[in-house]
Amino acid sequence: NLLDVVIENDVDIDGFGACEGTLACSTCHLILKPEHYAQLPEPPTDEELDMLDLAFDLQDTSRLGCQVV
Ligand code: FES
Repeated sequence: NLLDVVIENDVDIDGFGACEGTLACSTCHLILKPEHYAQLPEPPTDEELDMLDLAFDLQDTSRLGCQVV
């Protein structure tokens, strides 16, 4: 599950999800391993991509955690 992914990627979850999933922050930014990214059922929406653009250290496998839980 996603929590395992968070722990596995050693994400600092302090302040994680500050906007409670309303796509108004990027504190839930996750950089996923490619195999995890590939397992997600939905691609990011335009709104998610806009917010990801503001995230620190954006990667090809970045997602917002609140949108993929
Ligand atoms: Fe704010 Fe995910 S919790 S965008």
